[in-house]
Amino acid sequence: MAKSTTFSCSACGASHSKWSGRCDACGAWNSITEEAPLSAGPASKSLGGKRGRTMELTDLATQEDPPERTLSGINELDRVLGGGLVGASAILVGGDPGIGKSTLLLQAAASFAAAGLKAVYVSGEESSAQVRMRAQRMGLSEAPVKLATETNLRDILTTLEVEKPDIAIIDSIQTMWADNVDSVPGSVSQVRSAAHELTTFAKRKGMAVVLVGHVTKDGQIAGPRVVEHMVDTVLYFEGERGHQFRILRAVKNRFGPADEIGVFEMTGEGLAEVSNPSALFLSDREEPAPGSVVFAGIEGTRPLLVEFQALVAPSPHSQARRTVVGWDGSRLAMILAVLEARCGIPFTGLDVYLNVAGGIRIGEPAADLAVAAALLSAREDAALPKETVVFGEISLSGALRPAGQTENRLKEAGKLGFTRAILPAKSKTGSGLGVSVMEMTDLSGFVGEVFGAG
Ligand code: TYD
Ligand code: MG
Repeated sequence: MAKSTTFSCSACGASHSKWSGRCDACGAWNSITEEAPLSAGPASKSLGGKRGRTMELTDLATQEDPPERTLSGINELDRVLGGGLVGASAILVGGDPGIGKSTLLLQAAASFAAAGLKAVYVSGEESSAQVRMRAQRMGLSEAPVKLATETNLRDILTTLEVEKPDIAIIDSIQTMWADNVDSVPGSVSQVRSAAHELTTFAKRKGMAVVLVGHVTKDGQIAGPRVVEHMVDTVLYFEGERGHQFRILRAVKNRFGPADEIGVFEMTGEGLAEVSNPSALFLSDREEPAPGSVVFAGIEGTRPLLVEFQALVAPSPHSQARRTVVGWDGSRLAMILAVLEARCGIPFTGLDVYLNVAGGIRIGEPAADLAVAAALLSAREDAALPKETVVFGEISLSGALRPAGQTENRLKEAGKLGFTRAILPAKSKTGSGLGVSVMEMTDLSGFVGEVFGAG
């Protein structure tokens, strides 16, 4: 007998045979909801080649040209897409509500339209008057973008069938519903089936489709992770509330490097590109202060200088605090442990706060040494020498490992007026670049050299 219901997690989409309070797959609480089972539906059209036949990989390479790409002219977006928009591709843009997804995609639609593509923007959240008002505010009221306000999937597919656009933006996937699926809009089955229909339609018609997905906090509405596996490219739009910077980050891209970021600034007239983010992220920096260290990082293909700030203070609590913004908390714990075990510098009884300035999130292990430097500098109340950048990965033994793209990091540092770099020995530094290099083999050597301790 067929099962009548299943349960799935609205955060990650994992299915479960029974309800429970916590999803084993992703650890989210109260995210599991009951779902009507998906009907088998008609077999989907195959994506290329004849059904039931295989071909040689080499044949494919000679038969098919590299994908055609269109540049929007918004460089930060084009780079994150891997060098422009690929036709017949499916893109997911996820992000917190209110972060600026609709703003970004309306601008993108207008730019692609200006580049000669036929663009349709489907809004399931705002009325056409609202979208028009937004467009006016952004100076795009004359842009040749077709607007539709629909939530019924069948109507949308009909519209797209008639309009035959090159790019369709669906804002948002959580508001779309298919009338043949027996559950409420926003549920895992609805979101999945809408995404499936739209992406297969797009592949079949040679259209690019952009699905907007809100990152959801409560378990009633399915989040964008539920459809990540169905699309070619997954972008997340991030930023701290209260900061005007926004980062568009590729976390999956079949047509370009993942980890690429684009930097924008939210202004009164929409999003503005930030083509020199290092300068922007360091713009608030004053004289070197204890606890502040500049990290020469790489985000995607581009070097990026950011400031790590640490504060270390005696803790009034029985258990000392470890608070991190913009970096990985468990990585911080690891570095504190290495400092204690390998350099004899304890942080017990001290509260530790670590922050990346500007609201950007850094994921690179090469930031280890900059974090250690910030922690030590805060603890010893001693500023690092002026105009110094720091980078390198720390291993559990306390040894320092060279980071990739050392030369690019140094070049960016030199360009922004930095004159010294502290980095792991055996790094491939390249020639000159106007930055003097201080090579360290291990963390205790670094502590001794820079802070005269350890
Ligand atoms: P929006 O694109 O609606 O976010 P999302 O689609 O991700 O939910 O952005 C909403 C926020 O952006 C809102 O708080 C107002 C702000 N905003 C500006 O600051 N300037 C602008 O030009 C626009 C259009 C929005
Ligand atoms: Mg929106």
